[in-house]
Amino acid sequence: MSTTTIITTTLDGKHPAIYQEEIFIEQRQNGHVSNPIPPQAQTTVQTPSVMQKALLLYAAQQPYALVTDHAIPSILHKDEILIKVISIGLNPVDWKGPAFNFGLPRLPWVNGRDLAGVVVQTADTTAGSRLQKGDVVLVPSTDYRDIRKAAFQEYAVATHFNAAKIPSARCTHAAASVGVAFVAAVLALGVSLGLDFQAISECAGPNLPEILDKVNADTIPADVRHECFASRHAVERPKAGDWIAIWGASTTTGLITLQLAKKAGLKTICIADIARHGSKLHAVGADILIDRHDTSRAVEIIRGITNNKLRYAVDIVGSHTAALLQATLDPTISATDGSHAHLLGLTGLPKAQDKDERIMYHTVPIKLFHSSPEVGEAMVTWLERLLETGALELPEIIKAEGGLGGVNEALGVLRSGDASGKRIVVSLE
Ligand SMILES: NC(=O)c1ccc[n+]([C@@H]2O[C@H](COP(=O)([O-])OP(=O)(O)OC[C@H]3O[C@@H](n4cnc5c(N)ncnc54)[C@H](OP(=O)(O)O)[C@@H]3O)[C@@H](O)[C@H]2O)c1
Repeated sequence: MSTTTIITTTLDGKHPAIYQEEIFIEQRQNGHVSNPIPPQAQTTVQTPSVMQKALLLYAAQQPYALVTDHAIPSILHKDEILIKVISIGLNPVDWKGPAFNFGLPRLPWVNGRDLAGVVVQTADTTAGSRLQKGDVVLVPSTDYRDIRKAAFQEYAVATHFNAAKIPSARCTHAAASVGVAFVAAVLALGVSLGLDFQAISECAGPNLPEILDKVNADTIPADVRHECFASRHAVERPKAGDWIAIWGASTTTGLITLQLAKKAGLKTICIADIARHGSKLHAVGADILIDRHDTSRAVEIIRGITNNKLRYAVDIVGSHTAALLQATLDPTISATDGSHAHLLGLTGLPKAQDKDERIMYHTVPIKLFHSSPEVGEAMVTWLERLLETGALELPEIIKAEGGLGGVNEALGVLRSGDASGKRIVVSLE
């Protein structure tokens, strides 16, 4: 028992097939296709030439526009499946991207990072793969540069190694809430910090550094390659019994990070609004809860509890709180094994001038999930087992009304903070 102390493609007026081919070529040039095959060898499965509803973003700082004449995306690659979307989980990036004009490869664009739905088509070559027509799956759509994969539409393409089957006993809407948060948490802990999930007794997970050791590093996108191997030395990796501090533990990502860290044997310090979230965080394994509103005291408390020896910290709020977390770490380089303290920022890191050169800083190599079939499949099959066994507590959800037409209003609620850690899920049923 735990105790707790306090993606018509006629957008550009081009023929759909030409547009899709351009996407494919652009992806290969950017290293986004992990298993590139020449266009003449692609498995192209024709989808019915019917239109669907989708949300288009025509300009930054504008609301999404509901259209009814957006072509259903086509399967272009041997690993792909087509999904009829049942439910969409909303992420902060869905409003932040348009508001601050980032993550928008072109305009107009379709956004949306988390979806759940039913597989309606598979590429011929996926016959015999673990996913079949009729399976209900959740998909963290991290490959946002491929408009076919976006969630804000009635049909979306995914790769089979980025889709996890949802057990029949699990609510499809709840499952739509967890994908991106799970991917971020697993890559943060399992790749950037190198935590081994194999020893989790109730539902063993992957040892991602071991999987990455067998992956040709040249197939990993150059901009995240260094991060993917940052913790390849065993001495840098957290071991059972080590402390980890998580600032923003009540975020959806924090809730998953906390659970996985705890299950892997780490001792967890969670910084959040205790009055609002303490009970939930305690129930899923927080060892120490510290209130987020008393920031200076939080730093002192963490130092005290860890006896000034904290080596691992994850920030899920922003550069300001990442700087506070930095102050809680023991920055010295170990005289015995040369290991470092590690600070990972999901939303920012301390400013360059405030960094300590002895500390190893990390960002999440999120594109590893869709660019490496080996890593992607290890993660989604583990998620399937976690859902099947009930070992992972899913975030609470708020079901938004109005289908795609209700997304703008729901994103307003998310932006206001009123969702307070609950995932807003939009049903297309
Ligand atoms: N880099 C990546 O690839 C990646 C991937 C996933 C997420 N992210 C980022 O990670 C962040 C979290 O995403 P999410 O979807 O997990 O968020 P979310 O579930 O929408 O997070 C909402 C929670 O954040 C808490 N919060 C707000 N300000 C806080 C503060 N100063 N200290 C502590 N907690 C605070 C809120 O607490 P209260 O209820 O107390 O207000 C609320 O519980 C976002 O910035 C997102 O863009 C990045």
